[in-house]
Amino acid sequence: MSSNIVDLASSEDEEHENQTRRKKKTTNNNKTPASEPEPEPPLQSNSNSSSNQPLEFRSFWKAGAYDVGSTKSIHEQGQLEHARVHPKFLHSNATSHKWAFGAIAELLDNAVDEVCKGATFVKLDKISNPKDHNPALLFQDDGGGMDPESMRLCMSLGYSKKAANTIGRYGNGFKTSTMRLGADVIVFSRKSQGSRATQSIGLLSYTFLRKTGQDDVIVPMIDFEVSGDRSQPIMYSSLDDWSNNLRNILEWSPFTSDQELMQQFEDIGPHGTKIIVYNLWLNDDGLLELDFDHDEEDIRLRDEVNLDKSLKKRDRLLESHISYQIRFSLRAYVSILYLRKFKNFNIILRGKPVLQHHIVDDLKYLEEITYRPQLGKASKEVTVRAEIGFVKEAPLLRVSGFNVYHKNRLIRPFWKLTSDNSSYGSGVVGVLEANFIEPAHDKQDFERSTLFLRLEMRIKQMCHDFWKCHCHLIGNYSIIRQQKKFPIQPCGEFAANLQREFSADQPVIGLSANMQQGMHLDQPVVGLATNVQSMSNRNTVPDQPSNMSRNTSSVQPSSRLPAGVNKDVSGDTSGSALVDQICEENIQLFMRCEEHRQKEIGLKQTIEELERELEEMKRKCSQLSSNLEIQRKLKAIGQQNGKAR
Ligand SMILES: Nc1ncnc2c1ncn2[C@@H]1O[C@H](COP(=O)(O)OP(=O)(O)OP(=O)(O)O)[C@@H](O)[C@H]1O
Ligand SMILES: [Mg+2]
Repeated sequence: MSSNIVDLASSEDEEHENQTRRKKKTTNNNKTPASEPEPEPPLQSNSNSSSNQPLEFRSFWKAGAYDVGSTKSIHEQGQLEHARVHPKFLHSNATSHKWAFGAIAELLDNAVDEVCKGATFVKLDKISNPKDHNPALLFQDDGGGMDPESMRLCMSLGYSKKAANTIGRYGNGFKTSTMRLGADVIVFSRKSQGSRATQSIGLLSYTFLRKTGQDDVIVPMIDFEVSGDRSQPIMYSSLDDWSNNLRNILEWSPFTSDQELMQQFEDIGPHGTKIIVYNLWLNDDGLLELDFDHDEEDIRLRDEVNLDKSLKKRDRLLESHISYQIRFSLRAYVSILYLRKFKNFNIILRGKPVLQHHIVDDLKYLEEITYRPQLGKASKEVTVRAEIGFVKEAPLLRVSGFNVYHKNRLIRPFWKLTSDNSSYGSGVVGVLEANFIEPAHDKQDFERSTLFLRLEMRIKQMCHDFWKCHCHLIGNYSIIRQQKKFPIQPCGEFAANLQREFSADQPVIGLSANMQQGMHLDQPVVGLATNVQSMSNRNTVPDQPSNMSRNTSSVQPSSRLPAGVNKDVSGDTSGSALVDQICEENIQLFMRCEEHRQKEIGLKQTIEELERELEEMKRKCSQLSSNLEIQRKLKAIGQQNGKAR
């Protein structure tokens, strides 16, 4: 057996050992040791299947539902030390990408990570599969490319040799993303290193694995040594092995001849990578998930667009906003996918470069907030700068949320932390780069670590604080009315109190300053909102909130704590948790307040309507009575006239 088997192990330390093992495997014509010979499953399609026949399920979500059938036991294989990967895992692994654009982003990330190796572009296009003329996705970049060994690692699971500042880290993105977009992928890569140049072709085909009943992930690959215009096959074992790999590639890829395969390198240049994902998944209606027809310069998500067609009330302003567009327009999503603008790199989507879009450019009353996450004593202190403001169209446009990037890559777009029903926080949008927390494997969320949970709280607090101080600037005076009833402190002061607890090098006090002024530390804490606690002692109402315009409110640790207070506090974690809890309760109270206010407005409107209706009824009633009176009088006159006659 000459094709490669994907290794499951991912430890860097084990890598060398695995590589040696893999080489042994590729040089050995049999996967099983000579002592226990085991006939290999046929690599070519069996008599009942053909590579021209697609899988019975063409919808991604159903593609993992098939009976595995009998599997060779590990003992039979004599490879106890080697974990295998069932082809089904390719599918289940890919389900980490619920959203197809998240999968596309992974492949763009891999090209962006090549900028440090000279990549100047990645192009993404729809092409036609020459075999069946169905649409396929092409990703092509002019990055460093992959040599034969890197190509094998690319097809393997969990191997990543990337530097600390790259987006890629898990060694899984290529597999999850390609398998999420289609059943099959073929990769062409060329690399030049000094005087040596190589080019490689690898095929990761779910169709091939399924149709030939494989119970391990077998990846046909071939490599060439390139010198000038000539390319020489690199043989690891025998010519038979090499030919077997080529035959499988030709049978299960979109290309039918060696020439067609080699032509794929013609537009790659001295180094770079071309990835073709084909047999793209269909939706439940049997249509391609990706819509290439609606806009020839874009790729849209068919089902996301259709979902909204059912909405009764349309909101044109919202529909034109980037926060809405990114759900189904790839061009919109990619425009905000990377935080910093590239200097010499373009993402070309269907022939047209994507213009990078800075979300903060769309904000008004912009502020910068600085804080330092509490990373623990052993870690280096980091400073995070968040930019926050109102969307320009506020208050008409009810969009809000934080856009959280990690190492330049957008992980959570418009992450909404306020209640949907409340106008509280409406229009408040922020951007920050959080490199101190880890993204989840699909890079659409973060690992739910304590640091992440704290960040979540901080963001909530930032939105809350910003709204409190600035909502009147967009014509919302409700908060000011509330302030008159429940005085609050100016936002800089409020945030400073928070920052004090958040400072890494100071012992943390679990109560914010205004709370302490309103109560004694020996009193039990009952989790009342900060401003409610301070009611009795304070009456500062900020007529004009601070930092109204495009100024910078850098929140720094403050030294306003009363002397001796720190001594009363034992651990910073509990203190911080208590502050978080109080902040959360504070926010919840404001939200409830807001909800009640909305209800009150609604009830008042109902009362007004009912009063109007009552007036109308009264008017009709009096009209009817006067009509009745007239009728009575006419009748009486009629009767009198009759008698007189
Ligand atoms: N376009 C490309 N150009 C050059 N090398 C690539 C390319 N795409 C993938 N690779 C190589 O394949 C490896 C595996 O890619 P993959 O996306 O699976 O993992 P990763 O990017 O390292 O980590 P992550 O899982 O976080 O994306 C990469 O580390 C890289 O060495
Ligand atoms: Mg990657």
